Amino acid sequence: MIQNRTLLPMIGHTRGNRNAATCQFKCGNACAKDVCNTSDNEYFRDIADAALSRRSVLGLGAVASAALVIGGEMLRAPSANAQLAAAPGNGGKLQFKAIAPVPRSSDVLTVPEGYDWSPVIRWGDPLFKNSPIFDITKQSAKAQAGQFGYNNDYLNLIVDKYSGRSGVLVANHEYTNEDLMFDPEWFAANKAEAARIAMAAHGFSVVEIKRGRASARWEYVRGGERNRRITASTAFAVDGPAAGSALLKTAADPSGRKILGTLNNCSGGTTPWGTVISGEENFNQYFRGTGSATDKRYGIADAATERGWEDIDQRFSAHNKGFENESNRFGWIVEIDPQNPDSTPVKHTALGRFKHEGANIRIAADGRAVAYSGDDERFDYVYKFISKEKYRRGDRKHNLRLLSDGDLYVARFSGDSPAGQIDGAGAVPSDGEFDGTGTWLPLVLDGRSRVPGMSVEEVLVYTRLAADKVGATKMDRPEDVEPSPVSGKLYIALTNNTQRGTAGKAAVDEANPRTGNRDGHVIELTERKNDAAAIEFSWNILLVAGDPSKDASTYFAGYPKDKVSPIACPDNLAFDSKGNLWISTDGQPGTIGYCDALHKVTLTGNERGKVEQFLAVPAGAETCGPVIHDKDGSVFVSVQHPGEGGSYDKPISFFPDYVATPGKSKRGEVYGPRPSVVQVYATGKPGRR
Ligand code: FEO
Ligand code: CA
Ligand code: CA
Repeated sequence: MIQNRTLLPMIGHTRGNRNAATCQFKCGNACAKDVCNTSDNEYFRDIADAALSRRSVLGLGAVASAALVIGGEMLRAPSANAQLAAAPGNGGKLQFKAIAPVPRSSDVLTVPEGYDWSPVIRWGDPLFKNSPIFDITKQSAKAQAGQFGYNNDYLNLIVDKYSGRSGVLVANHEYTNEDLMFDPEWFAANKAEAARIAMAAHGFSVVEIKRGRASARWEYVRGGERNRRITASTAFAVDGPAAGSALLKTAADPSGRKILGTLNNCSGGTTPWGTVISGEENFNQYFRGTGSATDKRYGIADAATERGWEDIDQRFSAHNKGFENESNRFGWIVEIDPQNPDSTPVKHTALGRFKHEGANIRIAADGRAVAYSGDDERFDYVYKFISKEKYRRGDRKHNLRLLSDGDLYVARFSGDSPAGQIDGAGAVPSDGEFDGTGTWLPLVLDGRSRVPGMSVEEVLVYTRLAADKVGATKMDRPEDVEPSPVSGKLYIALTNNTQRGTAGKAAVDEANPRTGNRDGHVIELTERKNDAAAIEFSWNILLVAGDPSKDASTYFAGYPKDKVSPIACPDNLAFDSKGNLWISTDGQPGTIGYCDALHKVTLTGNERGKVEQFLAVPAGAETCGPVIHDKDGSVFVSVQHPGEGGSYDKPISFFPDYVATPGKSKRGEVYGPRPSVVQVYATGKPGRR
């Protein structure tokens, strides 16, 4: 029987950046718990000091910094939008005037003038001909397994090349908000079924989409041939060097090669060969551990879990004999083939086990596939994997094996300014930039462990501990790591880390330069010779986020601060066809006081660093999974956890159905919030609708 547990322990303790419900349901109150990375691997200072003498000799001190004075007189209230209006963007058909930031209580999906929006698919929408129309008052696990899941995060719309009028939409379902999904009285009496519904609401949806003509709006196809649900119970194959390892075996799977389910899939990417890869992020919160050192490094507590799944399925507690290793079977990059609903999804051990935000692939100069991934935890690391085999255009069968074998690296960032110039308050160092060089440190190379005292299997299953040993750089929660398809440069969203530089924690460094980094930053990384397989790189900070009208520590690549939209907590990244960066946010309401947003950032030319807000999601929601189809004049986003902070009985959001009166919703609609995929489209041209 599932116990009554303390609800929302983070009320009053959320450190200003999210509400208590998000903390509980999304990441298992990670902020309230001890920092997982207590390793001592700070090489940064030494390297920075060594670099100082070179800089001084070159005389690069004061000149550049003069252009980057951070001072009160540069900062004005962001009536920025008036100024933004004058300059049209360069996003193809996506010309827009930046919207004003939206107060966080607004329950509206706000889009620019000349645009409108509609949901493509919502939580509970039926995927199959025999799936029931959603009725929130009569939900069952069986129904949910045939309907669109909860809290869609990663998103892509993969268009069939031939017609351009059909395709598949792929979304993952990161987690569930039980307090918004269930009538509290029903929940109290039906906790086991509620847990089974929640399990069925996790995972992935693959659903066919169609449109009448190119540039028309997309609709999902109920009963489409490729439609598929993957849940917390779907069988996955395991591949790579740790497949079959003793560390992955359980009583239910003595082979260590077959795992049921995927959990907490956050961001992801679409591979050049057309599959979708996604990261199992805060998987730790689903498991009761034993208090071992490895559990601690992954944040797995020896305590009853908030969701209580261990009460209905023994694999969720390591105290159940034979299931000590179950949590080792999560924290992987998974790959699914959205074109083949009968294919077995795969967990790739070669990419290491940590709280993968997601992964994105770039093909190296010699044809090998390189997957970049961030470990979304305070003071954790950025990784890359380089496949052994080369990508072969059009050879799908071959390419489906690329992530099964290769080398794994973790990043060390070195600053080129003296440590004393990184003051934690945001002052740009005297060479004019937060920048430097870096190295990819090998963990597994040519099939051999490069970590003293750890086998290849141990490095891959306990990747965080391996990376601690080689001296990787502790980052401010690396989220998406996304290569620009235009320039090849990588962009790393560091969402925040309020403990940076605080007592007993890692100090500021040039790559993480702000003490108590509440609003996050974005790093731009260039591989040596722009080759994804390089082991050295250079980097610079593109943005130090925040509301520039109130925060002198912000930085926008030198672009005037009074001409940008305020932005905080960068999370998911995307590019339009011109190479502009689009950033969705997770945490603006609790930091800068505005609804979460999607922003466009110009990366080149004299407007480099200009941030223009494109949309705002409704109250309680986070913006995820942006997809920019600028040639069609469309943008798609996942609206995740709308109404979080409210409850089933007292919703604070009614997105997207906006039913006005309880008990008066039309069939298939909900009085209250529903996570949804939304299409934003230009209305300007006749026939576009
Ligand atoms: Fe699920 Fe890293 O956010
Ligand atoms: Ca995320
Ligand atoms: Ca510098």
